[in-house]
This record gives sequence, C-alpha cells and structure tokens, in this order.
Amino acid sequence: MPTADNRLGVGVYGIGWCAAQHIAAFQKNPHADVTWLCARDEARARANLANANLELPHARMTTRFDDLLAAPDVDIVVITTPNHLHAAEAIAAAGAGKHIVLEKPTGLDLGELVGIRDAVRRAGVRTIVSFELRYNPLLRFAQWMQASGRLGELRFARVQYLSRVTDWYPGWDWVRTRASGRSHLLAAGCHAVDALRWCGGREAVEVSAFHTHFTAGYEWPTSIIVNMALEGRALGHVTSSTDFMMPYTFELELMGDRATLRQDLLQWQDTTLDLDELSTANPFPDVALEAATDPGGRPAIRIRCAMPGSVDVSHHPFQAEIDEIVACVLEDRETSISVFEAQKTMEICLAADRSAELGGRPVSLPFIAE
Ligand SMILES: NC(=O)c1ccc[n+]([C@@H]2O[C@H](COP(=O)([O-])OP(=O)(O)OC[C@H]3O[C@@H](n4cnc5c(N)ncnc54)[C@H](OP(=O)(O)O)[C@@H]3O)[C@@H](O)[C@H]2O)c1
Repeated sequence: MPTADNRLGVGVYGIGWCAAQHIAAFQKNPHADVTWLCARDEARARANLANANLELPHARMTTRFDDLLAAPDVDIVVITTPNHLHAAEAIAAAGAGKHIVLEKPTGLDLGELVGIRDAVRRAGVRTIVSFELRYNPLLRFAQWMQASGRLGELRFARVQYLSRVTDWYPGWDWVRTRASGRSHLLAAGCHAVDALRWCGGREAVEVSAFHTHFTAGYEWPTSIIVNMALEGRALGHVTSSTDFMMPYTFELELMGDRATLRQDLLQWQDTTLDLDELSTANPFPDVALEAATDPGGRPAIRIRCAMPGSVDVSHHPFQAEIDEIVACVLEDRETSISVFEAQKTMEICLAADRSAELGGRPVSLPFIAE
C-alpha cells in the first residue's frame, strides 16, 4: 500500500556499503520513500548511513526483519545482507507480498534458486536483481550492437572481471568465507557471467572451468576461468579473479561474423561498419562514436561513454535499476532483470564452480527446468 503521499514505501535490510547506494537511489526517485531500515545493530547502521552522507529522519529502525515484512508502509523490500541470507529473506519477503530488490548472488545453490523462483511465482510480486552493470552505457551499446545484428552472427564472447578485493572491502569478514561468500563467481564474477549472457544474447549449454587460489584470507579459490559452449555454435569465456596486481578491470569482447566489439573499439575485416549509419541508428545519447584506428593502424570506430571501470559501488548505475523496479511496480509489469532472468546467470556460475571442483569436467545446462 503506497504511503500517505502516494509513494511506494521501501524497507531496507542490511545497512552496509551497497545498501547506501540503493537508499540514495530511492531518495532520488520521486515515487518512493525509504520508510524502514533493518539492521542487527542500530548504532552501526546509523554510523554507516552517516559515512555515506545519508539522512533518513523519518525512516523507522528495527532489528527484526519480520517488522519490515509486517509493515503496511513497506511495498518494496531491499535485500542487501551477506550472500548466504539472500534466499531465505527473498522467500520470506515474497511470502509477505512484498516486491523485492535482491542483491546478487540470488541463491547459492540449486535449492535456493528454486525456492526463490517458486516463492516469487506464487506471490506474483515484482523483483529486480542487482546486475546493475546492464545499465552501463558500454554494455547497453554492446548488447544493442549484437541484438540489432550489426556484429552479425555471434561467434565468440569474452568478459574479464578482475577486481582485487581484500580487507579494504567493508564485507571482508563475511565474503571471504565459504559459508557466507561461497565462491568467487557467486560473490563477484557473476557480474561478468551476466554481462556475457546479456550482451552476447546466447545461453550457455555446456560449461568447463578451472580455478586456483592465490590471495590469502579467502576460504575459496580466488581465480576462475570458465569456457562455455553457447547456443548457435558460439563460444564464451569468462576470466574472473581477485589475484591480479592491476586496477579494477571489466572488459567485454563480442565477435560476430560481420564485426567485432573489443571494449571501446569496433573493428571489422571484410564488411566495413559505416560510422554515419551507426551514429544515426545509435539509440543511446550517452554513447558517442568517432572514427579511429586500431593498434595496427586500420580504420575502426571508437566508442566514447562511461566505462564499467570502477569497483566503487558509488560509480555503479544503481539509479537506473531502482527507477526500473519502481516503474514496474507502479505499472504492474515485469522488470528486465527479474529473479527468473537472473537465475540463468546464477546457474552458469553454479555449473562453473561444479566443473572446477571436478577438475574441469564439462557440466551441461540448464540445471533447472522452466
Ligand atoms: N551489485 C553490486 O554491484 C554489489 C556491490 C557490492 C555488494 N553487493 C552485494 O550486496 C550485499 C551486501 O554487500 P555489502 O558490500 O553492502 O556488504 P556490507 O557492507 O558488509 O553490508 C552488509 C550488511 O549486512 C549486515 N549483516 C552482516 N551480517 C549479517 C547477518 N548475519 N545478519 C543480518 N545482517 C547482517 C551488516 O550489518 P551489521 O553487521 O551491522 O548487522 C552490513 O551492514 C552482498 O550480497 C554483496 O554481494 C553487490
């Protein structure tokens, strides 16, 4: 039930690093109000809010998640707790009839994924999962290039997600454990898997992976490489690691039978991409295209836009995600990254982890029937 001034009420559970971005985004949305906050420790939560320069004088604070679920002035529950808590909380929120913003990873095993799917289906609530890089202009443009056929038939897709997460991270104590963080892909690299799925427009039918462990402190392997057989004979590859001595790097490559997108460069071999045609057709005002040369001196097209180049959540496009769930709740329509859609990304992560545990043995997908 919307609040007195006809805005959707929002309750946030787990007031840490990521929650601050969700709260800030809801505060900027004219159709929503953060009405409740839930944390194990009120003083710690208030300190986290103050650190993020957030003021919520009218939001009620509780230490009991059930209070959020019972509150008539909570329409949307935001779940920004550690990974191992997401599934049970999402199932409870759906059971209480609340719409849900769910942080990744959604579920940590098949049972959790099915549990979330069934609870959300039963309740008919709206959900959005924080694969917010889908709102980054480079990823949006890449997805459009592929879906509009301008790259031709996809032959290969590759994403690298290299993010050196150590004890600087506020969630270090829980993320480094198997019980709570679980695995590199589940805790972090799922963003790369999701980008490959979404931008490449092909589902994985088989996965084979290897992992290794270098960074001290983690209970789980800290690098994983994943090879994928994609629909339509295409191949996919994800490298995801916290081990590399370099700044945060998120790199995307899509190679079709007409043209290739390598991060911010478009290249071709036989069929020239027409810059004027592409600039006219480009639907994204925040993406500019210009003539360039590739490292070999051949003609190419440079893509100028905000890149997915920061680990800091304050640089991530959460606003678009939050605006989408609010619009979808108000207009009673499905979001573009529902738990059903995100489940497919999570299944690839689980398959890759299983394959790596088995020394690289191929694992077939999907795991879960519709
Ligand atoms: N989509 C993205 O780009 C992105 C980026 C970063 C994080 N995330 C996700 O967001 C979630 C939260 O991560 P974060 O970086 O915000 O971590 P964080 O700063 O540690 O925040 C987690 C919050 O949950 C609370 N919490 C911890 N253990 C809990 C427990 N056992 N029961 C209930 N509450 C507990 C903590 O508060 P108290 O200890 O004070 O209770 C803390 O405020 C994770 O699932 C992570 O994967 C997503």
